[in-house]
Amino acid sequence: MNRRIALSLLLAAGLLTGCEAASDAGADAPAGPPAGGPPPMPQPITLAKRPDATGGEAAYVAKCVMCHGPNGMGFGLLARRMDQPDLEKRDDLTTDYVELAARQGIGNMPAIPRGEVSDAELRQIAEYLAAGPHGAPAGAAQ
Ligand code: HEC
Repeated sequence: MNRRIALSLLLAAGLLTGCEAASDAGADAPAGPPAGGPPPMPQPITLAKRPDATGGEAAYVAKCVMCHGPNGMGFGLLARRMDQPDLEKRDDLTTDYVELAARQGIGNMPAIPRGEVSDAELRQIAEYLAAGPHGAPAGAAQ
């Protein structure tokens, strides 16, 4: 009887070590895409990545950067007609233009209603963008 218990304990210990060995092997596996694959996607820009962002910058990251970040449709479509597709790096934006584009929509960009971005918030964002160019944002693709 005692021998049986000892045997099953031994077996269980063996299984546990086996599992550990398997997960260790996983941690050692090479990260990233296989050689010759496509380049990695740029990381999305989030507030967590810009912990120091306040005011207009924080509002821009929260409300605009999902489209105007390096992976977004705003970035991609502006790249077709602008030398600088990144709104944060532009030096030619005025507050009026930013507010008009956001409220009325422009080209493929939908109009952004007050329920989504308040007048006060949009003013902050517009002032932030008009004060650009701002330094290389985290996760920007070059
Ligand atoms: C749903 C995606 C989306 C969101 C959200 C979005 N945009 Fe856009 N934005 C676009 C696209 C797409 C374009 C390019 C339009 C085109 O050229 O067809 C654009 C263009 C612009 C332009 C025009 C730039 C130029 O030089 O003509 C401005 C300014 C702008 N966006 C500001 C903003 C601001 C400010 C916000 C946040 C309040 C915002 N956008 C949120 C998709 C978006």
